[in-house]
Amino acid sequence: MIRARIAGTGMAVPDRVMTNADIEKIVDTSDDWIMERTGIRERRIASDDEALSDFAVPAAQRALEMAGLDGSEVQLVICATVTGDMSFPATATGIQHRIGARRATAFDLGAACTGFIYALQIADQMIRAGTVRNAVIVGGELLSKFVDWTDRRTCVLFGDGAGAVALTATEEDRGVLGVATYSDGALGDLIYRPGGGSRLPILNGDRTAHFIQMRGNETFKIAVRSLTEVSDEVLSTCGLRHADVDWFIPHQANRRIIDAVGKRLDVPEGHTYVNIERFGNTSAASIPIALDELVRNGKVAEGNHLLFSAFGSGLTWGAGVVRW
Ligand code: ACO
Repeated sequence: MIRARIAGTGMAVPDRVMTNADIEKIVDTSDDWIMERTGIRERRIASDDEALSDFAVPAAQRALEMAGLDGSEVQLVICATVTGDMSFPATATGIQHRIGARRATAFDLGAACTGFIYALQIADQMIRAGTVRNAVIVGGELLSKFVDWTDRRTCVLFGDGAGAVALTATEEDRGVLGVATYSDGALGDLIYRPGGGSRLPILNGDRTAHFIQMRGNETFKIAVRSLTEVSDEVLSTCGLRHADVDWFIPHQANRRIIDAVGKRLDVPEGHTYVNIERFGNTSAASIPIALDELVRNGKVAEGNHLLFSAFGSGLTWGAGVVRW
């Protein structure tokens, strides 16, 4: 049986650190409020002349290097993002070109914060089917460019960056064991950015249309429920129990959401990876960034079971289980 194994991980974030104290100077907020309600202490913010590919490409290159793969061996490049360099072409084709994946399918995938899990599912299925042997998936976002820096309800939450994994076909009993993804467009107005698409392509004096709009409180409740349900479902389809999870690596949207889901899933103390205090919500990048930190710090051992789960605009949500 062929599976997709994560053979390499990588990440790249902007150099510029923006602390809660820095944000206190911009909007009416406080370090205490942000820490208590979100768990975020600081985030990385791209400069005006940086675009997503400036982080997505090095993240992909680091993942390939760890996997010992040359770009020319990659047949699939997916970039999970809602903040690509341009409306088109896809940021993924720029990544494909710059990593030297000369004969690869490349496309962007728009599932917001769930994008990495969606991409993992597609790459896993294409590898299982024998369509491709090696794939690179990048989750990356520069949401700081699309928040209203006068709106304290949203501007404190997000950070920029990219994370990547290199996947390769294996016949060993390891790799991606299962992924489930869902969506509910009826809840599309909980988090959205109305401008920039075909409905509202050009600024008509209404700048707010180009910023992220969010009903945070309602999103919070749905997030806890959907993350718990989908994580339970994937564990059970993989024949695993809660106690089998060595690392729970959730999307880093809010410390309180992570804690509530971890509690419902009975994840033992110290087995949930949290780095939201340093990066904020990096959307599709948060899981591959967290994974890269864990792997490079030597915290993931062969045979470990990793549980990923995420939710985001759409609404979309999903979870995946990997045996390392
Ligand atoms: N500083 C100080 N006060 C604030 C701030 C701030 N930065 N932001 C909001 N407040 C105030 C509000 O105005 C409100 O005041 P009021 O009671 O006088 O009206 C009060 O704090 C409480 O506001 P709530 O929105 O109820 O606060 P809550 O505890 O729900 O926290 C938060 C807000 C952090 C946004 C939380 O709801 C959340 O994390 N939700 C999930 C969002 C999310 O995860 N989105 C992910 C998807 S993103 C994507 O897909 C791209």
